[in-house]
Order: sequence, then structure tokens, then C-alpha cells
Amino acid sequence: MASEGTTNKIGRLRHLKEQVKEGGGQQAIDRQHDKGKKTARERLALLLDEGSFQEIDQLVTHHATDFGMAGRDLPGDGVVTGYGTIAGRLVYVFAQDFTVLGGSLGQAHAAKIRKVQDLALKTGAPLIGINDSGGARVQEGIRSLGGYGDIFFANTMASGVIPQISVIMGPCAGGAVYSPALTDFTFMVQDTSQMFITGPQVVKSVTHEDVSFEDLGGAMTHNRTSGVAHFSAENDEECLRMVRTLMGYLPSNNLEDAPALAPKDNAARADAELDSAVPNNPNDPYDMRQVLRRVVDQGSFFEVQEHFARNVIIGFARLDGAVVGLVANQPNEKAGVLDIDASVKAARFVRFCDAFNIPVVTFVDVPGFMPGKAQEQGGIIRHGAKLIYAYCEATVPKLTVITRKAYGGAYIVMGSKHVGADYNIAWPTAEIAVMGPEGAVDLIYRKELEGAADADAVRAQRFAEYRSKFANPYVAASYGYVDNVIEPSQTRAVLINALQMLQNKREANPAKKHGAMPL
Ligand code: HXC
Repeated sequence: MASEGTTNKIGRLRHLKEQVKEGGGQQAIDRQHDKGKKTARERLALLLDEGSFQEIDQLVTHHATDFGMAGRDLPGDGVVTGYGTIAGRLVYVFAQDFTVLGGSLGQAHAAKIRKVQDLALKTGAPLIGINDSGGARVQEGIRSLGGYGDIFFANTMASGVIPQISVIMGPCAGGAVYSPALTDFTFMVQDTSQMFITGPQVVKSVTHEDVSFEDLGGAMTHNRTSGVAHFSAENDEECLRMVRTLMGYLPSNNLEDAPALAPKDNAARADAELDSAVPNNPNDPYDMRQVLRRVVDQGSFFEVQEHFARNVIIGFARLDGAVVGLVANQPNEKAGVLDIDASVKAARFVRFCDAFNIPVVTFVDVPGFMPGKAQEQGGIIRHGAKLIYAYCEATVPKLTVITRKAYGGAYIVMGSKHVGADYNIAWPTAEIAVMGPEGAVDLIYRKELEGAADADAVRAQRFAEYRSKFANPYVAASYGYVDNVIEPSQTRAVLINALQMLQNKREANPAKKHGAMPL
């Protein structure tokens, strides 16, 4: 039987824990709600399976004494950490608590985050961090900065071993932005989250620019323009639902396969609509997203970075229940050309898929790399090389479907046989050549065209000859550069069959410390 002393001790523990759960108090919680934001604990409840959250380090406090910090009560030191499950699978979490000194990061706060990072890495489970913080806790000075450094180090060590997800649900400023930037996927909430190196006031004094919080670092700035973020949500609830959805496509670590589901769609399903997906006029656009949706398991396409570099599409989907990563040119945007942003977007995604054993399926309709001064001066050579590098080093199964244009260097980079793809197919509408008919005819028949009485008639004739000779899939097929030319309606069945054929693929690159990727 418990003694009275023990009863008191247990009572004290309960009281302490209840205090911590109240965070910064009702007034601060009301302010958080008034801004349209949930509290740290409400967010974890939405993110994790009901009742699964197990808190760690609830009783940690700071030991700072300067600047009025001595004896100052900061429940949980401004961050809630622990573990729980999503769809029954273990994940580690932290959620910064803005109601406690603005979620600012001091030494103890950082150590709590670092502890779940270390546990996640040791146990091979994903880490999801919810960021809502005024940044380095000013009162703790260099110890706060050190805390960030420790978190960055752990982010880097965990990269490619466990999936790391950052959810931005409030301010994320200064060096604090670099932890999310080191993780695999960043979610932002419209109107309530911002990421920037330094805020509008400092920008004004340094560069004299007037810029709003949203314009400088809001959700759409980073989803559409900078490419820093991968997903944008309207509010906290939608954002956390999206995180749960993403987790459904990811393995827990780099030694596991991504979670397969029992197939709900017919693996042999033919889709006659695909036979007319490519327009008769080779210069007309069409929506590659619709092609992808028709090929993959119904309703399984989950697009990543849908607002950024829209000329290339990336995302996860399922084929007969198995997770694949999709990379596709989008003829509806800039004719599907590969520019700097598209190259970097696709390269990073291919590397993520490769690190986490997710086969890459590429759909190609690309007129080439984007020409012009802006792209050359911006370094299209260096950035385009990232995509080549990513495809070449990827050892997961790589499957490629050429629907229409596959010209020049862009043909090579988009998952061609030459960069190590395992199974390449083309539709009869494919045009695989060094360059498109327009450029080629003007280049190789320039003298004839200059001397011709009726240059237009000669050009049209040469154009037709070039098209029938080169702008088709059969030359590539005759060299084995594509393994098969198929009817578009059969694409799903053919890909599923090839994925099964490749499921035991084992390939290793030469041993090295790491490559020197053109960053
Ligand atoms: C200590 C902080 C704090 C910080 C906020 N607070 N940021 N305390 N250190 N960095 C405290 C406030 O004093 C206040 O305390 C409470 O949190 C709520 O903050 P408010 O300002 O009232 O909230 P709001 O009006 O919503 O404004 C939020 C904000 C603003 C825009 C984030 O607080 C702000 O500008 N904070 C400073 C941002 C910043 O410059 N951080 C340093 C970045 S540099 P009370 O007691 O009044 O409730 C950095 C370096 C990292 O992080 C380097 C890594 C290598």
C-alpha cells in the first residue's frame, strides 16, 4: 500500500505534468487560436493516430539565469517532443510551442529536439518536425546557436537514412530555416507561416526594399518561386492531413521498401483514351498529368512541388499497389522544356527516390534544354548536370516512357538507356532525334534553301523527309535504345509487368566516400 509520502509525490508529478500541458497559459493559447493556428499539442493530436502520442522530456527545463531567465517557468522549454504512429507506423515528432516564449530555441529546447532526432536515426523511423518559433532564444545567446548547429548536424547524418519532414506553421527565421532546408520535404501553411533569412524590417534597412512578410517568405513564395517548400496548405488541419498522406508513400528507412498496398485497380487495365492523348499536331500541348493519372492506380497520384517549375511534374503514385516515383515533362507548361528550376526539382526527387528504394518511372515529352542568355548565365549547364548525375547514380529500377518529343541532350537525361534506365518504351507518336525537324532542316539544308527558287516548298519536302526518317521511335528501337514500341492504351500493363520483372534488381555503384555532384 502506498504511504502518504508516496501519494504526495505522485500528486506532485501529476500537477507538474498538468502544468506543462497548459503551455504558455490560456491567454497565449487564445492568441495562437486568434491567428488561425493550433497549439503544439493540438497539432500532434491531428498528425498522429488517436491516442498514440508518447511524450518524452516533458519535465525538461532551461537552466539559464541571465536576462531575467533565473527561475522563469517555461513549460517543456517551448517544445513538445516524443513519438507516436501514423497509420500504425512509428514516427518521431517535435512541435515547437509558440505560446512559450515564442517557441524560441534555447539549449534545453534544442537538446529535446536532438534527442528525438537521435532516436529516430537509431531506430530507423521518420522524423516530423513542426516549426513555429521566434528563432534563437536571445537570452541564451551562443548556446541557442550551438543548439541549431547540433540539429543541423543530426539532420545531415539522417539524410538518406530516414525520411525527414518539416512542417512550417508559424515564423521560421534566421538560421532556423536551415534545418527544414536540410530535410526532405517542407510543408507550409498559407498566411500563417513564413521562412526567411531575415525579416522585412532588416531587408528595408539593408537593401531599402519594401516587402511584405508573405512576399518575402510566405507559403506561395516558397512553393511557387523559390522552390524551398514542397507543399502548401490552407490551414493547419489540411497541412497535417497532407503530411499523413505523404507518409503513406514512404518507407520508414533506407533499408525498407516503401509500403505496398493490396491492389485496388486492375493491373491489366487498358485505357483507350491514351491512344489519342498526344495531339495530331506535334506542336500542340496536352496535359501530362492526365496521362499519369490514367496509367497509375486510380486515385493514387500524389504530386510534389506542384506549384514550382511546372514544366516538370514529380510525385508519388502506385502501380498495382507498389509505390513509384514519377518524373514527367509537362507539355502544357513551356512546352515541357527543361530549364534550371525543372532540372533541380527533378534531380532532387530522383535522388530521394533512389535513397529510399522507390523505383523511378519517367514520362518524356521534352523539346530540349531551354536555350537563351538568362538560362546560360544562370548556369543551366551546371544545373542540368545535376539531373544527369541523379539519373546516372540511381540504382533503383528505372523505367521510361517516351510519349512524344525526346530531343537532344534532354532525351539522354530523361531516363534514357544511356543513363542506366532498365526498361524503356516508346509510344508510336515518339520523336527521338538530335533536334526537332525545324532546327535540323534549317541547319543541314541551309545552302540548298538559300539557293532554292521556292525555299518554302523545299523546306516542306525536307521537313517531311526528316520527320519520316528521324522523328519516330523506330530508329531508336532498331538500336535497342528503346526496348519496345507499344500502344499507349497498354502502358499501365506493360509498366506493371516490367516493375515486377525488375523487383529483385541489385546494382551497386563503385565504392567511394561520396561523389562530387555538381552543386
Ligand atoms: C526570445 C522571443 C524570441 C526570441 C520571440 N520571443 N522571439 N524570446 N528569443 N528569438 C518572445 C517574445 O519576447 C514574446 O515574449 C513572445 O516570444 C511572443 O513574441 P511576440 O513578439 O509577442 O509575437 P509576435 O508578435 O507574433 O511576433 C513573432 C515574431 C517576433 C515575428 C517571431 O517575436 C520576432 O520578430 N522575434 C524575433 C525573431 C528573430 O529575429 N529571431 C532571431 C533569428 S536569428 P513575451 O514574454 O512577451 O510573451 C536566429 C539564428 C539562428 O534564429 C542561427 C542558427 C545557425
